[in-house]
Parts: sequence; C-alpha cells; structure tokens
Amino acid sequence: MINLRMTLIGLFALGKGFTAAVQAAPEGFDKGRDLYNSAGSCVACHMADGKGQPGSIPALAGSDWLDDPNRTIAIVLRGLAGPVTVNGKQFYSAMPPQLLFGDDQLALMITYVNNGWGNEGPAVTTEQVKEARATLPMAVYTPHAMLKAFPFPKNKQKANGTFKPDFDDVLTTVTVPIVYRTFMPGASPAAFAVALPGNQYYCWDAGECRLRYSWTKGGFIRGNRIHWSSNGQPVAEFNGFPYYRARSSLLKPEDYQDLAKTNLKTPFYDTTEALDFPIRISEEDELPSFRGYRLIGGYPEFRYQVGQCEIRELIKSSEDHSGIVRSFTVSPAVPITFRLTPDENASITASAGSIEEDGTLQLKAHEAAAFQITILEKYPAVPATTTTKGGNQ
Ligand code: HEC
Repeated sequence: MINLRMTLIGLFALGKGFTAAVQAAPEGFDKGRDLYNSAGSCVACHMADGKGQPGSIPALAGSDWLDDPNRTIAIVLRGLAGPVTVNGKQFYSAMPPQLLFGDDQLALMITYVNNGWGNEGPAVTTEQVKEARATLPMAVYTPHAMLKAFPFPKNKQKANGTFKPDFDDVLTTVTVPIVYRTFMPGASPAAFAVALPGNQYYCWDAGECRLRYSWTKGGFIRGNRIHWSSNGQPVAEFNGFPYYRARSSLLKPEDYQDLAKTNLKTPFYDTTEALDFPIRISEEDELPSFRGYRLIGGYPEFRYQVGQCEIRELIKSSEDHSGIVRSFTVSPAVPITFRLTPDENASITASAGSIEEDGTLQLKAHEAAAFQITILEKYPAVPATTTTKGGNQ
C-alpha cells in the first residue's frame, strides 16, 4: 500500500519532469492521520488543519517546536503548561498528557504531525515512545523546563520558546461565555473552567463526565495564570468559593471546604476509580465515556456515552444570574435515576419529576429525553472571611 503510493508519486514526479527528490509519506502516515483525527485526540484542540485555535492552542502545521522528535514525545507523554511562544505567537495555556493512547499509537500520530500539512520531519518509532514513557520524570513540563531538557538549536533560540507573561487579566464582567481547558483544583487533568454571562462560573470534569462545582464569588480563574501546587502540579489560580459542589467518591466534603487549598493536597486524582457516576441507566454501574464537546452560541455542550445512551449537557446562567441551569438530553430516551448531591448553599430543582431528600431524581423515559436541573445559590452573601486570597502563595 505504502510502496504503491511512493511509486505513484515517483512516477508522477518523473512524468512531469521534476528533478528534485520527492518526499514520500513515511510508513504509518495514513494510520497516524486517522488516529490524530479520532475522538478525544489531538484534533480536538489542534484541529484537523493543524492550525490550532487563535489565542488558545498553538499550531502544529509549520510549528517551529517540531524540530526535535524527543521533545514532541515528551510533550505528548507528560503535558505542557505555561507561557510558550510558537511561530512567534504567544500562548499561555495547558496541554494535558495524552494518556488515552499507547506507545504505538502515539508514534504514529507524531509521525503524522511531523509530516502532515507540508511539515517535513522524521518518523517516530514505538520504541522511542516506549523508552521515553519509562524514563521521563513524572511531571507536567513548563515550556521553560521542556526547553532546558530539549533545547532548540542555538541559531533558533531567540525567536522561540517562552516569554514572561503580563499578568492581571482577571475577568470582571463576563458578557459572553468563556471556555478554558485548564488544570483546576479538585478535578482531573481533563477539566474545563467556564465563565457564563452574569458572572456564573463552573468547573466541568471531562475525566469523570460531570459537573464538579459552580461559583460566582471570588471571580473566575486567572485563565492565563497557572501556579504550582506543593507536589509540583500546575493548577489554575482559583480564589472562588463554590456554592455548589458535586460530591464524588474520590473527594470528601472536607476536601472541598476550600478549593484553593485543595490545590496543595490532591490537585488531581485518577478518575477511573470514581465508581459513583450520578446518572444511572440500568441496575448495573456503568461508567461514562467522554465523546467531546462543541460550542453552541459560544456555550460548550458536553457529550458523553453511558451504556447505549448518548447524554448531552449544556449549562447556562439562570435568568436572574443567581445560579446555573443544566440542560440535558438523553438519546435514546430511557428511564434514568439521577443522584444529585444536595449542598447546603444551593437549592436544586428539576424540570420533571421530583428530587427526594437524599437528592435522587427518577425520570421516566419521556421525561429523560430532555430535562433541566437548576442550581441556585441559596445564600447570596458569603462572608468575606471565607474567601481566600492568592491561593497557595
Ligand atoms: C486538550 C487540548 C490539547 C490536546 C488534546 C492536544 N494538545 Fe498539544 N497543545 C495544547 C496546548 C494548549 C498547547 C500549548 C501549551 C502551553 O501553552 O504551554 C499544546 C502544545 C503542543 C505542542 C508544542 C507547541 C506546538 O504547537 O508545536 C505540540 C508539539 C503538541 N501540542 C502536540 C500534540 C499532539 C501530537 C497531540 C495529540 C497526541 C496533542 N498535542 C493533543 C493542547 C492540546
């Protein structure tokens, strides 16, 4: 297959009278392209055209960071978080480690990235990835640390690498939804932080496919600013005070008392051990799997699969901006049990069925097809003393 392709390109080039050497696609290129474009893969952020997303995700097409395949392997295996300059453009964001893929799959994807969209780089082998996985330190890299370990060639150093960010970009008035893919306290590395018009904020964890907490006091995260927990993990700077915290088997209520301090203890945890997914479809405990998200009018709609059903969730501010409204669809529609975890600072209501004292909501199939859960802050005035300033400085 590959050989045939090479021959065809060669013949074509000869026929046209080219003299320059023709670069053939390396072995595994097509497989790598399919993996790159698969659900939950690089494509979700860096996009099919490899151009990234303005202001938040750097490009892979033509990227000056691709000169060293060992660096790329390290980025993919351990993640990258902090200020980075790519092709002269500045980003201050975070890429979580790509934990869903095996060594052979990552090798194919990096080979594709190195050679897709006109890039000309080396093929990467499974052995290279395997060795890096076994030997690289177990921590997310900052761009600074990454370039110390895998420097640019001397003549390229000036234009590349890191930059000193200009802080103080706290959002004061939110008029359009703002979505950050970042490291949040008390959530897995696959967390979203979203600011809604009316200054309602929430953290949604794609690792566990569920809302983690919502807040309005203390302001949104400093999206462009990451600080470091005591165990060296990056976390968004978070000074909020959640009025609603969804309980999970992995986080005890006391872990949630002050999320800014949660940063110091257990910033992340292994979501595969969360066995208490709130939406029950059958008697069996079924774990959800994340299917991605898309933006509708700027609002993220999260999609996840539980058993045979696809669930979609889209969150907006309530009309008076005192809380959030979570809109769900379940398809195909089946009866569900939704175990909401009551929180003393929030009132929770549902558009169908009734919520029992322990937080259980039973919905019949036709009710589950499309329903809403409204979570409003109960005590709008949180005493100023409960808000911590400055995280863990
Ligand atoms: C969740 C979003 C996300 C996913 C998925 C993702 N990346 Fe990234 N990637 C980023 C962000 C954000 C940065 C910049 C990080 C920073 O600001 O420090 C980045 C940086 C990079 C860089 C260095 C800068 C550049 O543009 O060349 C490479 C190389 C890279 N990613 C490759 C990959 C590959 C390969 C995959 C799939 C295996 C992948 N990424 C998946 C978000 C993502």
